[in-house]
Amino acid sequence: MRDVAVIGVGMTRFGELWDLSLRNMFAEAALAAIDDAGVDHIDSMYVGAMSSGLFVHQEHIASLMADYLGVAGIPSTRVESACASGGLAFRQAVIEVGSGVSEIVLAGGAEKMTDGADVTDALATAADYEYEAFHGITFPGLYAFMANAHMAKYGTTREQLADVAVKNHDHGSMNPKAQFPFKLTREMVMNSTMVAEPLRLLDCSPVTDGAAAVIVTSVEMAEKLGRPIVKVRAFGQATDALALHSRKDPATIPSVGLAAQKAYGMADLTPDQIDTVEVHDCFTIAELIATEELGLVERGRSGEAVSAGETRIGGRIPVNTSGGLKSKGHPVGASGIAQVIEVVDQLRGDAGQRQVEGARIGMTQNMGGSGASCVVHILEGVS
Ligand code: COA
Repeated sequence: MRDVAVIGVGMTRFGELWDLSLRNMFAEAALAAIDDAGVDHIDSMYVGAMSSGLFVHQEHIASLMADYLGVAGIPSTRVESACASGGLAFRQAVIEVGSGVSEIVLAGGAEKMTDGADVTDALATAADYEYEAFHGITFPGLYAFMANAHMAKYGTTREQLADVAVKNHDHGSMNPKAQFPFKLTREMVMNSTMVAEPLRLLDCSPVTDGAAAVIVTSVEMAEKLGRPIVKVRAFGQATDALALHSRKDPATIPSVGLAAQKAYGMADLTPDQIDTVEVHDCFTIAELIATEELGLVERGRSGEAVSAGETRIGGRIPVNTSGGLKSKGHPVGASGIAQVIEVVDQLRGDAGQRQVEGARIGMTQNMGGSGASCVVHILEGVS
């Protein structure tokens, strides 16, 4: 595979965007990415979206977005893997450029969740609907099982879960695109409304509208265009059983570990060489387990690590400098692309107040459902 780079990024603000439809949001993000890359055309595009049919009653959106963007005629492909749809759209774009099939490819993601759909039910279609959702379990409920298992097995505490939200809202308070840029205290999290024991309102990522897009090209083309180059060093993807009850240990998310091993192998890197990481913190417990699966923190120690400040900006391994899904927001199909954007910003030195000093290698981890799909990327800033 030839070397591939990200040369342009663009995203909407995340939140309740009453004035923007799904297509408006996608176009805003895509045009910003095209502008940032300084390209005059794209050869192909990917659209990550989990459930535009259930959220806004619109399918066939790969063609819709290409047409609305004014590029109808080029190949456009929708990618769906629940909340990992954006990350997988990026992977497909990287492979398409890497294989030499196309030179300049847009990878985007969008989701419009606040327009009145039954969001909890729509999201539950990413679980095993027949065996899980049909019986009333929701995503907060599934992650609550995982939290209880982690607490029982490793002694992870309620305070440590709260500290994930406090850290991510601290980071998000420096992100102008974040849906909830306010700061939290441990007490606010621990006294917020109970959603699914032990997870409370402020342990959960919110319901969000938003879109994000990046431009992927060959390193050779990036050099010709004279753009700052953030190279895609590696990707890893893995799957698992859709139903949580079919897995051996609910205190782990094996697809994350598998995807990470593939990515580390492809990049020839070890976890201690990662300078900054965006993980899929759809619930506070998800961030803790993800950091363990990625090998960034010893298994069972993730709670201690967050409370000790190891995963803050300025700490040993900054996690979710963007504010993560928790504070920045989680428009499900767009989140994987927004993670790539944060890492690209960090590696270009464009992250403003959130900048991790000297960041050279960054990682993203995006997963679907309770971890039945996962995609990991490793990026390196080279100029
Ligand atoms: N973090 C911080 N604040 C939040 C929030 C969150 N996750 N969700 C809602 N709020 C705020 C709202 O802004 C609102 O504030 P206001 O009263 O000042 O206006 C208040 O909390 C209540 O909001 P509301 O919209 O009534 O919340 P809700 O009870 O309908 O939904 C959740 C809250 C947690 C149930 C919902 O956000 C949710 O389902 N999150 C999980 C989404 C998910 O599963 N994603 C996929 C992951 S795999």
